[in-house]
Amino acid sequence: MTNAIKPQPGIMDIALYEGGASHVAGHDNVLKLSSNENPFGPSPAALKAYEAAGRALHRYPSADHAELREAIGQVHGVDPARVICGAGSDEIIAFLCQAYAGPNTEVIHTEHGFAMYRISALAAGATPVEVKEHERVTDVDAILAACTDKTRLVFLANPNNPTGTMICQADVARLADGIPEQALLVLDGAYAEYVEGYDGGAALVDERDNVVMTRTFSKIYGLGGLRVGWGYGPAHVIDVLNRIRGPFNVSAAGLAAAQAAVCDVAYIEKCRQDNARWRSWMADALAEMGIPSDVSMANFILARFASQEEAEACDTYLQSQGLIVRRVAGYNLPNGLRITVGDESGCRRVVHAVRQFKEG
Ligand SMILES: Cc1ncc(COP(=O)(O)O)c(C=O)c1O
Repeated sequence: MTNAIKPQPGIMDIALYEGGASHVAGHDNVLKLSSNENPFGPSPAALKAYEAAGRALHRYPSADHAELREAIGQVHGVDPARVICGAGSDEIIAFLCQAYAGPNTEVIHTEHGFAMYRISALAAGATPVEVKEHERVTDVDAILAACTDKTRLVFLANPNNPTGTMICQADVARLADGIPEQALLVLDGAYAEYVEGYDGGAALVDERDNVVMTRTFSKIYGLGGLRVGWGYGPAHVIDVLNRIRGPFNVSAAGLAAAQAAVCDVAYIEKCRQDNARWRSWMADALAEMGIPSDVSMANFILARFASQEEAEACDTYLQSQGLIVRRVAGYNLPNGLRITVGDESGCRRVVHAVRQFKEG
């Protein structure tokens, strides 16, 4: 007898997610610059909290995440009662799709937007709608024109991944004003901490009832391996998301490390400054070699090569030097390579290798 079970509609349209590689055969000094991780890792305080959590692994974690939400509230100036924590911000994105999108509804994302928006929309049975960007920058008018009475969620990463570009607060507010009344604007602030003085959209969440912000501990906080993210939204949305959240969706070690990490404000400021410095150094050095990039507001640069062929050849050369960057053809950017900003020596290694490739 053959089993006749079939997955829900939409699921077989999902292409398997390809994460950044971390190995190159034959190299032991590999530098991974393909997943936008913090080259310095987490704050020492977070490591200490993680180690301490190891002594109570037989205990279930907190189900309400109260201590982490309090800490987030204090540091980010948000209302802890309207914060929800997840296994990475990926899980918050999935909750939003599961709760609000489904068959016969549409989920909007931008042309070069983060892959999980489409994946989570399809997993929920909804139809993902891709909206063109203008020169790799979010086009608010195009998004508004794409809205229909089926639109439920509009995902916008600001700064965006993999472009690194960002739109201003006035444009984000205009977008929130213009989406249909049955829709939510989801502002993904995975890279918000890299932008000096930017709240990731928290104030907009407070001012309106149709904006949700997602944030992560995987980028500047250096805790990608632990899977912790959070969302901030209107009370009615957070209430809905909490109903589908598993009670123990974030591990005890993750909660403890994230709490210590968010409180170490000085460490994050140092990482932000370092990133800004080496990001512009690397962008300038690549530009001098004839490889332009848009001004990046995040912890990576989208280097644009003359052709897909050149981008791939450069990637192959970088790999031969033990350097792993990210091809972004899957994001409709065949000429691009997305390079995470490493520490000083990492950035110097990349520039040196690209120069060798160019002089070839
Ligand atoms: C724009 C954007 N949103 C969300 C995420 C997911 O992060 P997390 O590790 O919190 O699930 C990423 C990770 O690459 C990202 O680039």
